[in-house]
Amino acid sequence: MDEKKTIAILGGTGQLGPGLALRWAQAGHHVIIGSRQADKAQGVAAELNAEFGQDLIEGKENAEAARLADLCVLTVEQTAHLPALESVKSELQGKILVDTTARLSFPDLIPPAPPAAAKIAQDLVGASVRVVAAFQTVPAASLRKNFNQPLDSDVLVCADDAAAAETVMTLAQDAGLQAYFAGALDKAIVVEGLTSILVSMNKYYKSRHGTFKVAGIPAKKHA
Ligand SMILES: NC(=O)c1ccc[n+]([C@@H]2O[C@H](COP(=O)([O-])OP(=O)(O)OC[C@H]3O[C@@H](n4cnc5c(N)ncnc54)[C@H](OP(=O)(O)O)[C@@H]3O)[C@@H](O)[C@H]2O)c1
Repeated sequence: MDEKKTIAILGGTGQLGPGLALRWAQAGHHVIIGSRQADKAQGVAAELNAEFGQDLIEGKENAEAARLADLCVLTVEQTAHLPALESVKSELQGKILVDTTARLSFPDLIPPAPPAAAKIAQDLVGASVRVVAAFQTVPAASLRKNFNQPLDSDVLVCADDAAAAETVMTLAQDAGLQAYFAGALDKAIVVEGLTSILVSMNKYYKSRHGTFKVAGIPAKKHA
């Protein structure tokens, strides 16, 4: 992607956020790790900069990270979905919000019922935020490991706004992944269900790296 963005990863101190942060920093984007506590975000940013070998990633409190960003990615623990969105709602206005949430019910891993988490997010933040659901089936451990190498995993992208979906597919490509447009935001409930299957399969096969690949459709290059 030619256009470099400032990307805030809200709740980026957990499992999923760091791998995305390293991959986007590697691609030349300005990444801000968000947290409820600025000092925790700064600590994780410092760890990632040490892993990266350059001071490229910043850490800030979630609302400040969202305010400074062109685009925000929500990677908070699933039970924090609504409170985290409420806490940054005003800073998200006019921006793209990528929702990575896949709600998992332990221990049975029964797929969640509609509406999709991303649809719930859209209703909460309002129409001026363009919500895109993505990255639910990409394992955190694989993203962080060998972050400077492409990852053999496909991202299913669901959105009601085609231009926002295109932007997120380009960001997925920048992160070394392939991305496919998978339909409107409502369809993200299916991707959440697929994630439940994936976690069950990882458990059965004793893996942390299971993911899904699309067959029969050549991946498109996103500009
Ligand atoms: N883990 C994966 O492999 C994976 C893969 C694909 C998608 N996802 C999705 O990505 C999201 C994050 O998963 P994760 O495994 O990275 O989660 P996680 O490590 O359990 O938590 C991520 C962050 O959530 C924040 N958080 C926790 N409680 C909160 C609250 N009450 N309010 C606001 N923030 C809170 C914490 O940040 P602070 O304490 O710093 O605020 C924490 O570091 C989930 O929705 C998951 O479905 C995960």
